[in-house]
Amino acid sequence: MKNFFIAPSILSADCSKLGQDVADVLRAGGDIIHFDVMDNHYVPNLTFGPMVLKSLRKYGIQAPIDVHLMVNCVDNLIPLFAKAGADFITFHPESSKNIIGTLSLIKQCGCKAGLAINPNTSLNILSDFMDHLDIILLMSVMPGFSGQKFILPVLRKIDYVRKKINEVNAKILLEVDGGINVNNIANVACAGADIFVIGSCIFQSNNYKYTIDMIKKKLNALHKK
Ligand code: DX5
Ligand code: ZN
Repeated sequence: MKNFFIAPSILSADCSKLGQDVADVLRAGGDIIHFDVMDNHYVPNLTFGPMVLKSLRKYGIQAPIDVHLMVNCVDNLIPLFAKAGADFITFHPESSKNIIGTLSLIKQCGCKAGLAINPNTSLNILSDFMDHLDIILLMSVMPGFSGQKFILPVLRKIDYVRKKINEVNAKILLEVDGGINVNNIANVACAGADIFVIGSCIFQSNNYKYTIDMIKKKLNALHKK
């Protein structure tokens, strides 16, 4: 049976009580914490640094933390996030002058490494790096903000990448980020995603457990088909 992972994105969490909110969403059934890092250059928004990640670990958060770098200069930040307690680090190919070097740096720091691909970026870029990737993150909204609508043509990209992964390296996890909710998660899963990044749909709901249960119900129904 295929494993699906729910990755609540803290971009939509209540930052005034971040530790508590993250603990709550994990207790409600979240599997991985998605940690969006923005520098106000690569994207027009500014979010969290390594200090915040370290604070979550200090608070007692033990779940895997998935750092999504949406910044211009990635290499300096990677050792800092790894030391702070990251498990996965993904970056956008435009942000690195030496993509293999950056992927190796992430692994040397003890983390799983991934490339994040924007909705308008061609998938051709992936072919040179398949042997070096633990994760492929496909953006299904333009990076920068939560609460956007899922860009439907990305479903075809998910399907294409799933097939490529199955052809060459079935161990790569396929992560999809943006605009996922209870109503469209089954389509994203059918297209081939393993990890579902979900921000506003979970954090803006009144009851995290109810929402995550609904999401998991949709995924379990696929297993029964
Ligand atoms: C957007 C971020 C996403 C965002 C998703 O740049 O990478 O992780 O938090 O939020 P929703 O699920 O609200 O689209
Ligand atoms: Zn993200």
